[in-house]
Amino acid sequence: MAFLTLGSAHPISSNLFSPKNVSPSFSLELEVKNLDEVNVTHKNVLLRLDLNLPMSNGEVIDSTRIIRSLSTINELLQKQAKIIILSHFGRPKGKINLAYTLKPIAEHLQQFVECPVVFAPDCVGDEVKRIITDAPQASIIVLENLRFHEGEEKNDAAFAKELSSLGQIYINDAFSCTHRAHASVAAICEQLPSYAGRALEQELTALQSVLKTPKKPVMAIVGGSKISTKIELLQNLLPRVDYLVIGGGMANTFLAAQAVEVGQSLCEDDYIPTAQEILMDAETHDCEIVLPIDVVVTATIAPNVESKTVSIDKIAPTQKVVDIGPKSLSRINHFMDQCQTLVWNGPVGVFEIEPFDLGSVGLAHHIAALTKAKKLISVAGGGDTLAALAKADVEKDLSYTSTAGGAFLEWLEGKKLPGVVALQRGK
Ligand code: 3PG
Repeated sequence: MAFLTLGSAHPISSNLFSPKNVSPSFSLELEVKNLDEVNVTHKNVLLRLDLNLPMSNGEVIDSTRIIRSLSTINELLQKQAKIIILSHFGRPKGKINLAYTLKPIAEHLQQFVECPVVFAPDCVGDEVKRIITDAPQASIIVLENLRFHEGEEKNDAAFAKELSSLGQIYINDAFSCTHRAHASVAAICEQLPSYAGRALEQELTALQSVLKTPKKPVMAIVGGSKISTKIELLQNLLPRVDYLVIGGGMANTFLAAQAVEVGQSLCEDDYIPTAQEILMDAETHDCEIVLPIDVVVTATIAPNVESKTVSIDKIAPTQKVVDIGPKSLSRINHFMDQCQTLVWNGPVGVFEIEPFDLGSVGLAHHIAALTKAKKLISVAGGGDTLAALAKADVEKDLSYTSTAGGAFLEWLEGKKLPGVVALQRGK
């Protein structure tokens, strides 16, 4: 998995970011205390991980989140700490539901470490305390799903206190959970000395390098089906980026806002005025909005159906836009060649269905090539974006890829992340 490789070709410069009319409410301050500032030797360390891993037929199918936290885990083990892992899995809504037990994931974790991994059938209580006491130093205890208790999602102080009674130090290594104001992410920081783990630290550094101190010009690519779910994101990016590429279904609403007929394509008519406002705001912010100039269209969205590429003024009333066309791709790539920093969230077509993945895969290849040539710092995040990168077989070639879905998006929207704020304010 690719980690941040800013390296000597891209030293982070402090004077490069000069945002135009940046909203004062936007917080890019992500500095938190890290593992260098705490002595964990022989301590009981509560480690918040995101073990909410993709599973299929009871098997974990993607271990990236574990792999990324191995540097934290190994550092703690070397210092003879007992690691008490806190995590949620799925959304059991405050009730015990063994369909969401963390037991199989605890077993899966064992293959990544040499120390014993013990599973505790609850996350609070006397039995859990006994299991922790009995465990040897330099071992791992995975606690049962935190969301079996109502107090977790309510950010309940009493529940956080119960959790905190199991250890002496709290470490959060789960960026993908930092957008949740939950007890194991937020309230717990008021109870224990709290630090960021190595994976969280690395993720925050990567994100800051893109929007706080980026090498300019900066391009953002935002795809996905609906503008209604990405308004805040677009508004937050306008003052920060030089090129804002809009793809996917949401581009249709922008095209419609410019009086382009989009046929049967997904288009949110109610949001046409919003799209018009965003287009006007872009001018104020000197941000170039890059929309498709040609598109792939089809009558039916399904594998191996008939499709063709047309210019945007030739979309027939019966057709649906399913991807950007080759001219759009070349134009985006041409703008990208002039940029030094890129952030990507959301595919630009119905990438799950071939050949409507060609636009997203083409972008992925170009981003990867520029990054490998050390001409671009590239950060991508979100499940669909990572899936598009995997389809292009270039997920290792970007400067940084974020496994976080909601947290990555909320950060790009300029929202404060409760888990980061809690670490900054905590003990
Ligand atoms: C994720 O997979 O994005 C995190 O684990 C958060 O999960 P949630 O959306 O259920 O809070």
